[in-house]
Amino acid sequence: MKAAVLNSIPGRLDIEEVQIGEPGPREVLVRTAAAGVCHSDLHFMEGKYTYPCPAVLGHESAGVVEAVGSMVSYVRPGDHVITCLSAFCGHCSQCTDGHLSLCENKATELVRRPDDPPRLSRDGEVVNQFLHLSSFAEQMLVHEHALVRIDPDMPLDRAALIGCGVTTGLGAVFRTARVAPGEAVAVIGCGGIGLSAIQGARIAGANRIIAVDTVASKLELAQELGATHVVDASSTDAVQAVRDLTGGGVHHAFEAVGAKVTAEQSFQMLRNGGQATVIGMIPLGTTVEVAGVELLYEKRLTGSNMGSNQFRTDMPRFVDMYLDGRLKLDEMVSKTISLEQIEDGFADMRAGNVARSVIVFD
Ligand SMILES: NC(=O)c1ccc[n+]([C@@H]2O[C@H](COP(=O)([O-])OP(=O)(O)OC[C@H]3O[C@@H](n4cnc5c(N)ncnc54)[C@H](O)[C@@H]3O)[C@@H](O)[C@H]2O)c1
Ligand SMILES: [Zn+2]
Ligand SMILES: [Zn+2]
Repeated sequence: MKAAVLNSIPGRLDIEEVQIGEPGPREVLVRTAAAGVCHSDLHFMEGKYTYPCPAVLGHESAGVVEAVGSMVSYVRPGDHVITCLSAFCGHCSQCTDGHLSLCENKATELVRRPDDPPRLSRDGEVVNQFLHLSSFAEQMLVHEHALVRIDPDMPLDRAALIGCGVTTGLGAVFRTARVAPGEAVAVIGCGGIGLSAIQGARIAGANRIIAVDTVASKLELAQELGATHVVDASSTDAVQAVRDLTGGGVHHAFEAVGAKVTAEQSFQMLRNGGQATVIGMIPLGTTVEVAGVELLYEKRLTGSNMGSNQFRTDMPRFVDMYLDGRLKLDEMVSKTISLEQIEDGFADMRAGNVARSVIVFD
């Protein structure tokens, strides 16, 4: 099958022929229908994070089940599924405590053992699977706990966005931060993740939703999706602007960029008792600083991993929200591209031209 392979870090993606295995007892073979281009892939390509190479990247996808292993009863061939990198074992202390996205056995129980044949290979050489998925490929071979069955009425190119960006943004609002109706929210960064957090804040009933970005077209889209106010951080001090708009600061700030400066801004724009939730992937080795005295005013700084999801519960709900019109995904797909155009998708992301590019497979 065709797949986009990262051969070195930093590096670019090469479209290559890769071999995929047969499903083991608890594995599912999925024909990829669509895969979103998320900034997290780019962080690895740019060397801000590391991963063993060669690897097939991609982690935001939906598809159709082709074959299942002998012990799989949850899905059958023909079922429509969304994949999720938050593969869970179901029995570690984090899973049994409800924190499935923090599962402790991801690296041991949800992958094949080193002496088993690899899920992905290239002429006999191991090709690493990225985050349990490797979505930039015509097929995926995943553990059954890395997918959820969905309503077949859901268009799969829209469903793909739920695989990472939407679940991360909505989950950060609903599960990590638990935004309450009437609260004031700021979201820094209006790409796929930030726009999803804005939609989450709208659905949660926030009163003021302030979108912050440096690109005018992103701020326009943010308003279409639920922002009540916008701040152009290319020309304005974002912290002061948010404080002015809210008479002192927001209850909740979400950072959806992945940088030290914006993470610190998210804390600085809080009212007393407020919470900053950093979603962006801050580069390895980078520290985030807060003024210690601010802690006296009960301000909180926290992270969110994939929106603290319980994705088999959350994703079908998000599908329903799309089908009933509350969750707007058509507006978030700026471009559909082929696998061969994947580097163009990342170039558009770097240039800030798109909310999301989605790869659609034939
Ligand atoms: N925590 C998680 O589980 C998780 C999951 C998915 C993605 N992420 C991370 O979330 C971040 C956002 O991902 P994305 O796919 O939406 O990226 P994206 O590139 O599509 O969007 C980032 C946005 O930030 C804006 N921006 C850049 N610098 C800014 C600044 N100084 N002030 C305000 N806005 C600024 C850009 O214009 C762009 O609109 C990335 O760091 C990604 O790795 C984290
Ligand atoms: Zn992602
Ligand atoms: Zn677990």
